[in-house]
Amino acid sequence: MIRPIAFSSLLLLAPAALADPAQDYGEHCATCHGETRLGGSGPALIPETLGRMRGPDLEAVIAEGRGATQMEGFADRLTPEDIAALAGWLEQPLDTVPDWTEAEIAETREMNPDYVPTDAPVFGGDPMNITLVVETGDHHVSVLDGDSFDVLDRFETPFAVHGGPKFSPDGRFVFIMSRDGWVQKYDIWTLQEVGRARAGLNSRNIALSKDGRHLAVANYLPMTLTILATDDLSVERVVPVVSLGGETSRVSAVYQAPERNSFILALKDAPEIWEVMTDPDAPPIEEGDAEERGLIRRGPPEEGLFARRRIEIAEPLDDFFFTPDYRFLIGAARDGGRGVVVNLNVGREVAELPLPGMPHLGSGISWMRDGRRVMATPHLQEARLSVIDTQDWSVLRTIDTAGPGFFLRSHENSPYFWADVFFGPNKDAVHVIDKESLEIVRTLRPVPDATAAHVEFTRDGRHALLSIWEDEGAVIVYDAETLEEIRRLPMRKPSGKYNVWNKITFSEGTSH
Ligand code: HEC
Repeated sequence: MIRPIAFSSLLLLAPAALADPAQDYGEHCATCHGETRLGGSGPALIPETLGRMRGPDLEAVIAEGRGATQMEGFADRLTPEDIAALAGWLEQPLDTVPDWTEAEIAETREMNPDYVPTDAPVFGGDPMNITLVVETGDHHVSVLDGDSFDVLDRFETPFAVHGGPKFSPDGRFVFIMSRDGWVQKYDIWTLQEVGRARAGLNSRNIALSKDGRHLAVANYLPMTLTILATDDLSVERVVPVVSLGGETSRVSAVYQAPERNSFILALKDAPEIWEVMTDPDAPPIEEGDAEERGLIRRGPPEEGLFARRRIEIAEPLDDFFFTPDYRFLIGAARDGGRGVVVNLNVGREVAELPLPGMPHLGSGISWMRDGRRVMATPHLQEARLSVIDTQDWSVLRTIDTAGPGFFLRSHENSPYFWADVFFGPNKDAVHVIDKESLEIVRTLRPVPDATAAHVEFTRDGRHALLSIWEDEGAVIVYDAETLEEIRRLPMRKPSGKYNVWNKITFSEGTSH
């Protein structure tokens, strides 16, 4: 019995110096953030979600809280040492991650008892020209009429929306996902929430199937793809993500490939791309080349709904841009300096191109220029854009910008594309670039020193909506041709904006 004695004598010697973060957590935090740290009325507190909020930043939130939220400060109850220990403890990964089985997901499903469907929109405008604005400042979405720019509704989302909301193919419903894996379904016609369910514990993004019946959720925790039925958010399938080599992998993103009637998955930890069929009549999938298949059969081929095909690649790829026919994708190599082109039909890498400075391919857009399809991508770590010829996969032009950017946007009816400068001293600048000459025609600085980022067009392409990405921010409406400012709508840190029509028609000017 040596240990208990040593422990209690230590306690007697220095009681105040002994911070016990697990106990402090249980006492002060668990009611809102969950006994398991996986969230409750407050968000999950695990390194995967805390992300870049570490050390002093994390301690400051615990000490001071977050204004105008349930999160109050604890400086009056916990010493700075306790808070530092608690912050350090929250930065440690969980010992065990729950499986998050179908039954556990089903348990979280809450349908709104007050939801009543209608036969027509409850508002007068064009339901196909609605633009949703995600306001990350206070976790709301504003529903904007794209003609009058009136806000028709403003509803609360789960904490920290992540990835773009996705519309049903008829544009009536929208699905919104939070970093903690909650999926919220909202009816744009009735301006009401339909329900929500927690599909993952830490999730990246969602995609809808071509027919709109299935919704896939890319998860980091656990390492699965969750597929929900879109009508009632019930669980259809939880697919464990295990590579050919037997390693589990996080899913960095899932994409709808409408031309292929499938989902495409980027795997974070395995040199594979997965394709999951959303066609109930999908033919049997033969993986690898015919000769090798004869030698090593990996079990019977999968077929039908959710049949899975693996595309083996040299190294994990992330952040995909797809050509509009969905024959090719470009993914970013992990070293951040190359793009790798994969032909999805034959299932192999076909080209590689130099894209130094972390290309953000997922934000890439494409258009026809001189009879050839080009695509453009920003770079997260370099002050330039790359314009790529998608016929021979050469870099056609690099355009110098005022700083590294995050998003690009255009529209079929606009001669310009818009590129933000997201990082560095010029984060208040947005370049408007001619799609033919590839010259910057105007640099807008709507609010000095405030981040200006992410553009979305109205359905007809006549107006461009730009975010002032600040807590007391705004959405600024521009005439997309004259570049004159038309309206300024106050918003709480508006991030992405999503126009129903541009999204459901897979407009080439926007990423999907
Ligand atoms: C009464 C409920 C409640 C209690 C108790 C509580 N929190 Fe919170 N906490 C919240 C809510 C709600 C948020 C989200 C605030 C917002 O909207 O930014 C939050 C946010 C946070 C965040 C920021 C998370 C992020 O990803 O941005 C941290 C860190 C945090 N809480 C830590 C703690 C710690 C540590 C304790 C215990 C000492 C604690 N909280 C106690 C409700 C609570």
